[in-house]
Amino acid sequence: MSQVKPTILVTGGAGYIGSHAVLALQQEGYRVIVLDNLEYGHREFVEDILQVDLVVGDIGDRATLDQLFANHEIAAVVHFAAYIAVGESVTDPAQYYRNNVSGTVTLLEAMVAAGVKKLVFPSTCAIYGMPKQVPMTEDHPKQPMSPYATTKWMVEQILADFDRAYDLRSVVFRFFNAAGANPEGLIGEDHQPETHLIPLVLLTALGKRESISIWGTDYPTPDGTCLRDYIHVSDLATAHILGLEYLLQGGKSEAFNLGNGNGFSVRQVIETARLVTGREINVVECDRRSGDPSVLVGSSDKAQKILGWSPQYTDLSKIIGDAWQWHQRRHQ
Ligand SMILES: NC(=O)c1ccc[n+]([C@@H]2O[C@H](COP(=O)([O-])OP(=O)(O)OC[C@H]3O[C@@H](n4cnc5c(N)ncnc54)[C@H](O)[C@@H]3O)[C@@H](O)[C@H]2O)c1
Repeated sequence: MSQVKPTILVTGGAGYIGSHAVLALQQEGYRVIVLDNLEYGHREFVEDILQVDLVVGDIGDRATLDQLFANHEIAAVVHFAAYIAVGESVTDPAQYYRNNVSGTVTLLEAMVAAGVKKLVFPSTCAIYGMPKQVPMTEDHPKQPMSPYATTKWMVEQILADFDRAYDLRSVVFRFFNAAGANPEGLIGEDHQPETHLIPLVLLTALGKRESISIWGTDYPTPDGTCLRDYIHVSDLATAHILGLEYLLQGGKSEAFNLGNGNGFSVRQVIETARLVTGREINVVECDRRSGDPSVLVGSSDKAQKILGWSPQYTDLSKIIGDAWQWHQRRHQ
């Protein structure tokens, strides 16, 4: 007889990475409830494609949270809901601190009040700031360089305090660059506005954008453009299952990097996209943007050792190919 798995609340589950985590949880037999205010999420991902219960509400709304925890026996929370645009966080930091920090504190308080004391939290490699060594490990100094990154580092520290004071255990995942789409092509990346390189390149291939800008061609890298660690979103989703199971089995709070371990340059991404799509992609070479490190690559050895996680889709053609399959379907 198959074992009945517990119910998991996924905040931000209508977004890009959250919806992939929902898919993975479903495939593993968990019951999932999504809480998303749909400010940036896609209702159809949750209701039509994944066919999971959706509560349209805000993580900052304590009454909604209390009702959710009272009505369902929730074993753990996977908390994706956040604002994510680095540039916007510089021009309008208030809403980032309100949503990402205050909203999260409201969620955590509601969890503690309801006795739900396990949380998986997506953080970011941006908390490290300029790399002092590459690949970066979890003990790298933390010097966030934008309000967005600061909100993530603040929540990490709040989680450490909630662990000490209220026994709330958390697994923190510091993602490098999430990319790709589930290989079945069901859901994918559609941020408004889009700021991530791979979807921007593919939107250019589709003719939805005139060109793709390369910000800086004189970095100390093999082809002069920045190197980034792209991690397939389905590999991230698998890590969330492993992190959740680790907590459900009584694991202590830990933070883990999640990266591919390989750096790919901006030019390599564009060239691979040309090969995958068979289309011309116009490029405009621009000056460097301030604050962009030349190389950002993470070591995921800790996640491998403690959680048994290792990325399956490390090939750039596969990552871009899966994203392309979904983009074509989305824009046909
Ligand atoms: N995309 C990346 O490369 C990347 C890298 C590092 C970390 N992350 C983290 O992963 C998480 C998900 O990122 P994403 O790319 O899927 O973003 P996304 O914008 O696609 O998803 C975020 C979801 O949260 C929802 N949301 C936002 N504020 C909310 C609130 N107050 N209440 C309820 N719902 C709310 C949005 O409607 C959206 O559906 C974020 O926490 C982000 O910081 C993403």
